[in-house]
Amino acid sequence: MIAPIEGFSKLSKEAKISWIAKHYTHNSEQTLELLQQYWNKDAQLQKLHDEFIENTITNFYLPFGIAPNFLINDRLYAIPMAIEESSVVAAASKAAKFWLSRGGFKTTILGTEKVGQVHFMYTGDAEKLAQFFSALKPQLLANVASITKNMEKRGGGISGIELRNKTAELENYYQLHCTFETMNAMGANFINSCLEVFAKTLKAEAQNYPAFTDQEKDIEIVMSILSNNVPNCVVRAEVSCAVNDLKPQDAASSLEFAKKMVRAVNIAKVEPFRAVTHNKGIMNGIDAVVLATGNDFRAIEAGAHAYASKDGKYTSLTHASIEDDQFKFWIEIPLAIGTVGGLTNLHPLVKVALEILQNPTAKELMEIVAVAGLAQNFAAVKSLVTTGIQQGHMKMHLLNILNQLGATEAEKQTLVNHFKKNTASHSAVVTAFEALRNNV
Ligand code: MEV
Repeated sequence: MIAPIEGFSKLSKEAKISWIAKHYTHNSEQTLELLQQYWNKDAQLQKLHDEFIENTITNFYLPFGIAPNFLINDRLYAIPMAIEESSVVAAASKAAKFWLSRGGFKTTILGTEKVGQVHFMYTGDAEKLAQFFSALKPQLLANVASITKNMEKRGGGISGIELRNKTAELENYYQLHCTFETMNAMGANFINSCLEVFAKTLKAEAQNYPAFTDQEKDIEIVMSILSNNVPNCVVRAEVSCAVNDLKPQDAASSLEFAKKMVRAVNIAKVEPFRAVTHNKGIMNGIDAVVLATGNDFRAIEAGAHAYASKDGKYTSLTHASIEDDQFKFWIEIPLAIGTVGGLTNLHPLVKVALEILQNPTAKELMEIVAVAGLAQNFAAVKSLVTTGIQQGHMKMHLLNILNQLGATEAEKQTLVNHFKKNTASHSAVVTAFEALRNNV
């Protein structure tokens, strides 16, 4: 059995690798070589990445691709995406091109409100607590003035503090439910710093509140933390065109296609098993841009899925309709993201991604990200209701399989050509590869 290690974080990078390779891999020499192969030759750049997290031993690459031709609010964008799944960038690019000649994407910001909460326990009279809170509110704001000053200069700050009585759900449980505007920042540090001051103020002032009994004075702070559930930090993105413009050469099949799209979206609306996969496809586009622009994709995922179940049942994040011969396809999604702070100022590739996007404000980035999600979903559902997903997916996955099989460049070229005319499946690729290699 491997013994636990003390002080791993204090070891040098080389020593960490030696330890891990020796104890957890079967060929430590090879592991060491491979991990070092992924180090950046530029020591300073490598150090920057090493310091993003603790215990870095190497870098983990993801492809950084571009989906061009996105017309968003009459401005043309090339969208950077960081993602490993073969078909995502291709699908986004295809959808972008499809809508480029049909008016492009239009977006609206529905809100930018962020949320944070101080969770606490109070044993006593709820009415007295409400009175205490009313009296305390100006002081809560005054005590965070040094933190909020700069944010207020930029037009943001605290937009509300509310006392919420949650005792019907959990005995003695109350919260300060706070809302914030954080402008171009995602705002996590700003929000959490304000909340921790609120919590301290609340606890200290309760002890001095004359109307409280001793028990009431003893407020217990449980935790102070932002919420990734941001139902009022939402962007809407949509595409629309005359049904006949979907397939201009063929009016009948245009209408049939539009109906199939609407039906598929409606299935995702009523059937959670489908909705989860439908939304996963949306997140393929969303996460890829969120990651490339240095934002926190786990926060976005959590918020998006909460939003998808906000009415009590998990449902589709996109919608589709045919009205007055117009086909309309849209998404509404919460996106608490930023273009300043965090990794955005640190990761050189993030800086490039933001530059490619013409240095957007946080609101503009919300619009771009929502469009990437909508485009991805349009492409996926279009394939699903027409050719099926595997044709395009396997075409993109083909190179992965050939690489796994150790195909040479010449063999890859021959087989890529072969599968332009033939249906690719894993076994079909293996068979064709073996036939080529063995000259059959
Ligand atoms: C695969 O990553 C995503 C899809 O399954 C999405 C969908 O089914 O809508 C193709």
